[in-house]
Amino acid sequence: MSGMRILFVSSEVYPYSKTGGLGDVAGALPAALVRLGHEVLVVSPWYQTLRARSAPLWIGDVDVPFDGGFSSCGVGTLEREGVRYAFVGHSDFRRSALYGFADDVRRFCLFSRAVPQVAARVDFVPDVIHVNDWHSAYLTMILAQGWHLPEGFPGLPSVYTVHNVQHQGSSEIESTLYWLRLPGALRESYLNHFGAANAMQAALGFAQRVTTVSPNYAQEVQRPEYGYGLDGTFRHISHKLSGILNGLDTDVWNPATDPHIAQPYDTADLSGKAKAKAALCHHLWLEPERPLLAVVSRLADQKGIDILLAALAQLLEQGWNLAILGSGEGWMESLIHEATGQYPGRIGSFIGYDEDLAHQIYAGADALVIPSRFEPCGLSQLIAMRYGTLPIARATGGLKDTIQHDKTGFLFDHANTDGLLWASQWALRRYHGQTHWQAMLQEAMAADFSWDIAAKAYEAVYRQAQKDVGRV
Ligand code: ADP
Ligand code: GLC
Repeated sequence: MSGMRILFVSSEVYPYSKTGGLGDVAGALPAALVRLGHEVLVVSPWYQTLRARSAPLWIGDVDVPFDGGFSSCGVGTLEREGVRYAFVGHSDFRRSALYGFADDVRRFCLFSRAVPQVAARVDFVPDVIHVNDWHSAYLTMILAQGWHLPEGFPGLPSVYTVHNVQHQGSSEIESTLYWLRLPGALRESYLNHFGAANAMQAALGFAQRVTTVSPNYAQEVQRPEYGYGLDGTFRHISHKLSGILNGLDTDVWNPATDPHIAQPYDTADLSGKAKAKAALCHHLWLEPERPLLAVVSRLADQKGIDILLAALAQLLEQGWNLAILGSGEGWMESLIHEATGQYPGRIGSFIGYDEDLAHQIYAGADALVIPSRFEPCGLSQLIAMRYGTLPIARATGGLKDTIQHDKTGFLFDHANTDGLLWASQWALRRYHGQTHWQAMLQEAMAADFSWDIAAKAYEAVYRQAQKDVGRV
């Protein structure tokens, strides 16, 4: 079958921008699609904080239909591993962080509106558009109903991937339609969620196909306890909903070639892992002889870090030392600071976002704890497994789909301290009875989470979306 032209839209893309797993996905899936013979253009905002060895090449400006008129946006381009990139430049993206501003919905409405113009500017008229999370969700509606679209764009099929249902992009209806320059009749469409404009729900309605980032999460979002108010809509669109498990960029995350650790290692020779642990303990002022439990996480309600914090004293009593890397909610950051001071030699932490240290922790720790309340897929457990660091995780979402209890990690059912402490105790017994632990570690490191499997699944969904609009 001939290759497709795929327009991939994401609010973050590694290595240029990243706050979490969405950046990892956008950084790896397009390259996997190119390896299958497709042409891919990734469109993302041109943040002030964009990390590129050489800056994108500015090729000119486009007029974007926005806010009742037109806004001018710059276009920057790059190419990497056969993937083309176009970055959307505007003063709204020249800020200290990617997200977290009062006008986020408006900013990303501008971004979504700019995508067709930017793609057309680089002569890329796609066969299908792949939209991710709430930030670019309105694009699905713009393709279906928008005025001022470049030639070839009206009615293009779109695939919408939900990475996290908690963040939906909610705003006031009239202003949103005005920003997006969309017809007033859309007030009563999928955009309307109990009287507010909801970007995610709009995409659930308007995209030809909807995916979540793990099969289990596709089921969970249809239940009230996971749906964050959209479970009814998910049930309603379940005929076009499926789950595709994320992969891992095995070049970025590879203990055998990782430039962030002193001595690379693999299943045949794990001496580099022992060295990584010694170096990490030295760096974080930890006693090196104890089992080391780590956290690499956004500090958010989703991740259940408060559950971990409530169990800290008992975890230390069980015998674990803790290495914590994270940033997010201020109150969690303060508690981690306090605990680090309270237990010298037993808890080491760094509050902030640090990719070097993340690699060193994945390599140097014995286990990674992930007590998530919900987890659409989760990449940190995949990374940990590849580095022979066994995940101790709540059995939810993608964690349940990717970790085999007592084989490649440890799973517990309930998001509370009892659940966590039960699993950490179990893990510790395995750790001290070394043979089983070593066998698990080998099994975890050998698991195949490469993107090639997922890329084929997306390919099938893209073709289905094309059929749905009668384009093939
Ligand atoms: P989420 O996207 O919900 O945050 P994932 O597990 O899918 O969760 O992805 C998290 C990604 O972000 C992983 O690559 C992880 O290593 C990285 N990460 C999370 N917190 C930090 C941090 N403080 N410093 C460096 N990397 C981090
Ligand atoms: C979201 C989810 C996480 C998932 C990531 C990439 O941030 O919280 O579970 O792995 O997106 O899909």
